[in-house]
This record gives sequence, C-alpha cells and structure tokens, in this order.
Amino acid sequence: MTTATATDSGPGPGPGPALITCDRLVRVFSTAGVEVQALQGLNLVVREGELMALVGASGSGKSTLMNILAGLDTPTAGAARVADRDLLTMTAADRLSYRRETVGFVWQQTSRNLLPYLTAAQNAALPLQLAGSRRHRGRRIRAQRALELLELLHVADCRDRHPHELSGGQQQRVAIAVALANNPAVLLADEPTGELDSGTAAQIFDAFRTANETLGTTIVIVTHDQAVAGEVRRTVAIRDGRTSTEVLRRSEVDAGTGRETVVAREYAMLDRAGRLQLPADYVRALDMRDRVALELETDHIAVRPDDSGEGRA
Ligand SMILES: Nc1ncnc2c1ncn2[C@@H]1O[C@H](COP(=O)(O)OP(=O)(O)OP(=O)(O)O)[C@@H](O)[C@H]1O
Ligand SMILES: [Mg+2]
Repeated sequence: MTTATATDSGPGPGPGPALITCDRLVRVFSTAGVEVQALQGLNLVVREGELMALVGASGSGKSTLMNILAGLDTPTAGAARVADRDLLTMTAADRLSYRRETVGFVWQQTSRNLLPYLTAAQNAALPLQLAGSRRHRGRRIRAQRALELLELLHVADCRDRHPHELSGGQQQRVAIAVALANNPAVLLADEPTGELDSGTAAQIFDAFRTANETLGTTIVIVTHDQAVAGEVRRTVAIRDGRTSTEVLRRSEVDAGTGRETVVAREYAMLDRAGRLQLPADYVRALDMRDRVALELETDHIAVRPDDSGEGRA
C-alpha cells in the first residue's frame, strides 16, 4: 500500500483543541406516530486539523449526525458544539451564518452539490459572494480565489464547464472547492464517493487529503468504503445511534530493518457512567450474552464469558 507513510505525514489529530464536541447527543424523529431514535446519546470529539472517517451500518445514524453538524437539523437533546458555536441554541440568523462561514459540506449525490446553470468557476465563487466576505469583495478577487481552489483540486481545466459537462469525479472535486471557498473550520462529507468507482473514489480522497494538509481544514467523511476508511488515521464506528468503537492507525519504523508498517488498534468508547460497548465480533467469538465476568487486574480489566452456570438458558 502506498498510503502507509502518507497516512502519518498529515497534521493528524495530535493534541489540538477540540473543534467538534458531541455530548450525549439525541435525535428522535416522529413520523406518523412512530418514534425513531436515530441518535441515542452519541459522544464524539474531533480535534482541530483531524481528517477522520465515520463508518457504520445503514440506518446507524451517520447522516443524522452530519445534518446536525452541518446546521441543517437540530438535536432533540444533548450538547453539540462546533468551533465554539452551540448547535442547540443558535438563532436562525446564527444558523445561516454558521452554514455559510463555519462549515462546508459535500453530499453523496453529485447533483446536490453544484448549481447546474453555473460553470465550475462560478459555482466555486458563489459562496464568497453569498457570505459577502470583506476579504473577497469584488468579482475579480472572487474569481481568482475560485480558480486557486480549482487548481489545488486539479480541476482548473474544467473551470468554464457546467456540471453536466463534468465526470462524477470532477463534479465532486469542484464540490470540494465550493465547500472550501469560505475557508470553513470544518468540512463535512456524507458518502462523497458513494456514486463513484473505486479508482475515482481514491482521487476524491486525495483531494480531501490535499485540503487537510494544505489548508489545515478539519475533515469528517462518512463512508462505506473500507479502502477510504483504511486511509485515515482515525475511524470511528457508529452503531445504533452511538459511537461504538474507534480504530487508530500509526506507522511504526522497525529499528533493525528501517521498514515502516501501519499499526491499527481498536478502541472502545467509555462514557461518563463507565458504560462500554464491546465490538459485536468479539462478543460473538466468545459467545458472550446477558452477563459477563469482570476482574480488575493491575493494568487491565478482564472480561470473560459468564462461567457462574446460573441464569443462562
Ligand atoms: N427525517 C427523518 N424522519 C424520520 N426518520 C428518519 C429521518 N432521517 C433519518 N431517519 C431514521 O433515522 C435512522 C438513522 O438514519 P440515518 O439516515 O442517519 O442513517 P445512516 O447511518 O446515514 O444510513 P445510510 O448508511 O443508509 O445512509 C434511520 O432509522 C432512519 O430511518
Ligand atoms: Mg446516510
């Protein structure tokens, strides 16, 4: 894999300050008298400069979380802060400026990201015009900024084309340029490679990496694509509306041979009440059910299948 070294060369999560904090986030949808608990007390911290992936089964709550972080939906309960904005108490005006200035987003449907009657360059310049940014006042300055972004994402040659004249991969790269136009603190992408073949998906992922490394943008990508998830330093899994496990990757250099390998380690979330969710495959492997035996050792806690012989069918 060519990604081993690249993975660690980025800014990485480091100990930077928290940019996104979700604390016991709940979102309940009520439709036709039926309640769906899409998020059930989700905890998540994303630090400044991170490029991370969110994975999880269909219906686990990934898009619900992204819509909340994008300022398009409001949580039912809990706390969510992004770049010092409180997503639960924002006014409508705050919400609009938040969406225009603080976050950028890229959606799965390529057609949802761009306006069809504008060229690539006009699409990338539009957010600057809407935000009325002082730095980008004047059509020429905005056009220059838009072109710089298209160049950064290797789609400058497409600047005068309309979305229908672009491939899906080119459309997504222009979409990333649009999302980055106002230099947002956070870039959110919900299945941005879902409609693309794997080769094109890898190029799009490179575009996100470029944005992260060159501009320092914090990026959260929802993906089903294991190849994409495997390229980032941190992958958080969502299960039933909660963050369940997390994989951290780091590269290690063998002192003897100088060979570099990527070491991945799985972690579980521990909430404030001490609750822990064990990975489903671990539980299955040891046929654990209902109750487990715990033992506190000096440097770890042992979790074993219930061996009491009581209460199990
Ligand atoms: N607007 C809505 N009204 C009612 N229920 C909703 C709404 N949006 C999402 N849900 C429900 O919330 C749950 C989580 O949905 P969500 O779209 O967040 O899942 P997801 O992880 O993004 O899935 P996928 O991988 O298929 O995109 C699902 O049970 C879904 O049916
Ligand atoms: Mg979704």
